Amino acid sequence: MLPVAFGLLLTWTGWAHAAATGAPSSSFRFDLACTSAEAGYCDNVKKTLELAGSYVEDVVSFSSTIQVNATVVGFANDGFLSQGRPSSTLVVKDSDGRVRLYPQALIRGKTPRPAVQEGQEMTKYDVEILINSNTPAYFPASVTGSSKAIGKEEVDLSWTLTHELLHGLGHLTAWRDHTQEEHGADAKGASNTSEYLTPYPFVYMVRSGSTGAAALQYDGHTYPYLFDRFLVETTSGKALDDYITAIDGVGKAGTTFADGPAFVSAVAGNGPAASAASKVSTLAKTPGSVSFRLDDGSLVTLDTDPALPSSRLDHLGPEYEKKEDLLMYSVTPSGLEYIRALKQAGSRHPIGEKTQSILRTMGYNVKNSSMVLPMSSSVSGSMAGSKGWQGKLHVMTGVMVVSWILS
Ligand SMILES: *[C@@H]1O[C@H](CO)[C@@H](O)[C@H](O)[C@H]1NC(C)=O
Ligand SMILES: *[C@@H]1O[C@H](CO)[C@@H](O)[C@H](O)[C@H]1NC(C)=O
Ligand SMILES: *[C@@H]1O[C@H](CO)[C@@H](O)[C@H](O)[C@H]1NC(C)=O
Repeated sequence: MLPVAFGLLLTWTGWAHAAATGAPSSSFRFDLACTSAEAGYCDNVKKTLELAGSYVEDVVSFSSTIQVNATVVGFANDGFLSQGRPSSTLVVKDSDGRVRLYPQALIRGKTPRPAVQEGQEMTKYDVEILINSNTPAYFPASVTGSSKAIGKEEVDLSWTLTHELLHGLGHLTAWRDHTQEEHGADAKGASNTSEYLTPYPFVYMVRSGSTGAAALQYDGHTYPYLFDRFLVETTSGKALDDYITAIDGVGKAGTTFADGPAFVSAVAGNGPAASAASKVSTLAKTPGSVSFRLDDGSLVTLDTDPALPSSRLDHLGPEYEKKEDLLMYSVTPSGLEYIRALKQAGSRHPIGEKTQSILRTMGYNVKNSSMVLPMSSSVSGSMAGSKGWQGKLHVMTGVMVVSWILS
C-alpha cells in the first residue's frame, strides 16, 4: 500500500513544455505492432512511446529521425516488463584503436556520422522495443486524459518505455556470459560458465562446405559496445577495456567455434583469458565495484548487485533508485507513477542529469532541456506520509544485439 495522496497529482502540472502531452515526437518514428482486445490499449501504448520520445528529444538533438520497431507481445506475467536494445550495431574503430559496436541510432542521428568499418549497412530500424502485454499497465494522465490513479499492481509504461528507449540508444553492455545469454542457461558445451564475462565474441558467421552447418569464425577480437568504453573499476579507475586484450588472446583470427558455449569453454581453458574474464565476472557481482566514467571524470556507480536477476553493468546502481537518475535503475515498482517518483526524488527532468551526461559522454548531442519539473520542495510536505516504494518490482532489461556479417 502506498499512503500517498493521489489527489495531489492534479496540482502537479509542472511540465513547462508542450511536448509532454504524448504529441508525436519529431526525432523518433515509432512503428508499433500491437494486437490487444483491450479497448484503447494499443493507442495508449503508441502515445506513451511518443511521450517517452518527447522526454528524450528534449535533451538530445538528433540529426535524423530515429526509427523504432516496437512490438507488444504476450509473455507470462512473471515480472518481465519490457526490453529495449539497438536493432543493429555497427563496427567502428575508435580513436584509441579499439574496435567497438556502436548503436545504430548514434550513427544515424549524428552529424558527422562516426565512420563505420567497411561493408556494413544500416538496417531499417535503429531501436527495438518489446512490451509484455500481460503486465498490468498504467498510462499517465497526459496520455489518457483521465486522472485515474495508478493501481497497486500497475506499472507506469511511460517509465519503462523511456528506460527501454535509452537501452535502444546504446545504454548497454556487451560484458555478458555468452553461454547463457545467447544459448540459454542449459546450453550444451560449457557448463557453469557464468564465472566468465566477455565482450561480444563473434562477428563472422561461416558455413563449412556448400550445405555445412553454420559456425562462428572468430576474427581475433571480442567486441565491446561503445558504452563499455567508459566502464571503470570504481576504486582504481582501471578501465574494463584493459581486460579485453587477454580475452582476445583466446584464439587466433580464423579460429572456428561451433557456438557461444564453445567460445566460453575456450576462454575457461586459456589461463590469461580465464583470469581476465573471471575477474570481470567478480566485479559485476560486487556491489559498487564498477562505474561509468563521465566526460568530466566523475563516476556513476553501476548496478552490480548479485541479488537482482537483472543486475547488469548497463543499469545504474541502487543508490540511484530514488534519486533523480532513477530511470536507468534495473527495476521499476508497481503502484507508482513515473512523474510521482521523479517528484519524490526532486528531479528537474524525466531524464536525470547523470543519465544525460552518460548520453553526452557516449557522443550524443545533449542540449539544454526546455522541460522543467518543479523542485520537490514545493510538494515535500504532502509526501510526508509516503513510506517509499512498496510495490512489486518489475524487471526492465536491455539485451544485446550484434550485426552479423555474412561471408
Ligand atoms: C520488429 O521487432 C519484432 C520483435 O522483435 C521482430 O520480430 C521483427 O522482425 C522486427 N521487424 C523488423 C522489420 O525488423
Ligand atoms: C560454478 O563454479 C563455481 C566456481 O567457479 C563454484 O563455486 C560453483 O559451485 C559452481 N556451480 C555449479 C552449479 O556447479
Ligand atoms: C545551457 O544553459 C546554461 C545555464 O542556463 C548555459 O550556461 C549554457 O550556455 C547553455 N548551453 C547551451 C548549449 O545552450
